[in-house]
Formats: sequence, C-alpha cells, structure tokens
Amino acid sequence: MNEPAPPRYDAPLTRRDALLAGAGLVAAGLTASRAAAQRAPIPFGSAAQIETFREDPLYRDALKRYCDVIVPMNDLKWEALRHDRSRFDFSGADELVAFAQGNGQALRGHALLWGEALPPWAKAMTSRAEAERELIRHIEVVVDRYKGRIATWDVVNEVIKFEPTPGEPMRDTIWQRLLGPEHVEIAFRTAARVDPKARLVLNDFNFEEPNAGVVARRQIALDLVRRLKDKGIPIHGIGMQAHLYAENPIDTHGLQLFVEALGKLEVDVEVTELDVIDWKLPADAATRDRAAASLVSTYLNAVTTARPPRAIVTWGLSDRYSWIHETFPRRDTAKARPLPLDADYKPKLMMNVLNRYRRSAG
Ligand code: XIL
Repeated sequence: MNEPAPPRYDAPLTRRDALLAGAGLVAAGLTASRAAAQRAPIPFGSAAQIETFREDPLYRDALKRYCDVIVPMNDLKWEALRHDRSRFDFSGADELVAFAQGNGQALRGHALLWGEALPPWAKAMTSRAEAERELIRHIEVVVDRYKGRIATWDVVNEVIKFEPTPGEPMRDTIWQRLLGPEHVEIAFRTAARVDPKARLVLNDFNFEEPNAGVVARRQIALDLVRRLKDKGIPIHGIGMQAHLYAENPIDTHGLQLFVEALGKLEVDVEVTELDVIDWKLPADAATRDRAAASLVSTYLNAVTTARPPRAIVTWGLSDRYSWIHETFPRRDTAKARPLPLDADYKPKLMMNVLNRYRRSAG
C-alpha cells in the first residue's frame, strides 16, 4: 500500500477515508447527523497487543489499514518494562513503536503511573523516598527513550477512587499510600520536564454513567486539573476510557457538561479505551452489534457535540482478541463482541459509527 504523509495526531485526518467507502450507514437509527458529517475528522486508533501482533498478520494488516494512532496495550506498563528492578525491557514497546512509525501512525503511551500491572518488587516498596525515587526515574527513562516518537502520554491512569467518598478522592494504590495525592503532581511534573513537547493526559474510567459516584468522579477530575494548573504543572488532556456497559445508560448531559467544563480550563478530552461490555445482552449477534453501535453512537455524539476529542481509540480492533472475553465473560459462554471489527476482521455497525468521525466532510 502506498502510504501518504504521516498524519499528525493533533491535525485532521487526511487518509483512510476511502477505505470503507462501501460500508455505508446501515441502520436508519445510526444515520450520521448533518453536524457530525460537517465536523473535522478525528484521528482514530486502537490499542495493540504485542503477542497477537507477532502471531497474526491479519491483525497487523488491520492495525495498518484502520489506525492513525497506535497504543501499546500492555508493553509500556511497569509489569512489562520493569519486571527486573535493575533493567528496563523495552522489547515489546520498541516493536510496536517501530511499526507505528513505519506506517506514519501517531503513538499514545500508556501509562507512566498506574496502581495495577506492577511487578512484585514495586508493590513491595515501603517508603516515601523509595517510591518517589523509582517513579521519577521510571518516567525519566521511559519518556526520554520515546521523546519525539510518543507524542501523547497517559501520565497517570485510574487515580480517581471508583466510588469516591467525601474527603477521599484518590484510589488506594501503592502510590497513594506512599506519596499521598502528590503522586499525580510528581508524575506530571517529571513528564513535562523530560519532554516539554509531549501531550500529557490524565486517563480514567467511567465519566459517563448516570449516578452520584460518577458526578463525584467528574468533579475530582476537574479539581485535579485545576490544582495542577494553579501550580503551573502542565496537563493537556483528560483521557476518557469509555469501557461502556451495554446494560447501563449514558448520562449524555452530564458528560457534555464535563467536557465543556474541561474546555473552559483549556483541557481537551480524548476517548482512549473504547469498547462495549456486552455480557448482559442477548446472545444473538446482530442484536448485540446493533446495541453496541447505538451505545457508541450515543456516547460519541454527546462528547463530540460538546467538544471534539483529540482522538478516538478503541481497546483492540477485532472481536477475535479482547480483554472483555476474560474480564466480563458471558454466562452463555458466547464470545463477546466489544469492538468495531468482528472476529474475521469484517467491519461491524460500530465501525460505521466510527466512520462518521473518521471521514472527511462530504
Ligand atoms: C488491560 C489489557 O487489555 C489486558 O490485556 C491486561 O491483561 C490487563 O489490562 N484499563 C486500562 C487498561 O487502563 O490498561 C486495561 O488493559 C483495561 C482497563
């Protein structure tokens, strides 16, 4: 395939628009609104799994064909990079970064700080000094290695408490226990120092459901942004994971107010881990695909009308491989259908919805 000039992550899409030209907008309920069709295209991407990437040429083809942005799914996590305390292992991440660069695709780095996917030695840290030293060193080494290649970093991942209680906004992790809420500032300050040109993002889940916990989570995100800004520490985006539960409604109004409030703080959003958890839906594949497409449509329409996200990234590309199979197994043991391509790499209705945002106007 003849590759056009590399797209810039922060610029409108200029390619791939024709690739799915035949797909059309299938279901009447999913017809693109005039407004959506007139908006500037949004870079689209996917998280890529190294094991699958190495084994399956069709998977590599799909990543190349559909994506403007690639996110190493697990290979930039501490567990992968820091299995040994003394030595960084960049083998998986390097492979995916080289692939993306070779295809002119942008990269998101996921994630510099997370309470999960830590090697045993990191979970066993005991003092503030040790945690601070390791965190700073980690961010220095990793961000420096990919400087100029990874344009955007999830600097912190899932730091907001799942169901926050008053006065307890932060998730209980080794970082929170040893460093307190300051772990967020340390991470952002260090990333900005090492790569002043990088886009720095706070990534978290569930900003979209209609319940009091989510209202609190959104407020905490806004407070964190304000606190960083007040201290002169750069933060450029909020990553909204968007692992959408098919059985739960979306609070479109609350979501829009959140995105608008972030805009007032001069912070963009990006959709970072989109997929649909279909474990409670009926078994029929067509029914599930329609429901998933409709949910994604509702979600993206809400976000995009408030303020277009910097990117839309799905957590995988094909139903052949997804964390949803293991993490949210169906009672009837049918395979989950969380992603825009089916297990044979054929585009599903969800891809038609994504095409509204991927395609250039007209
Ligand atoms: C998941 C990966 O998809 C799995 O392969 C891995 O076993 C566990 O982590 N939120 C995140 C992602 O920020 O890093 C998680 O990815 C899914 C939930």
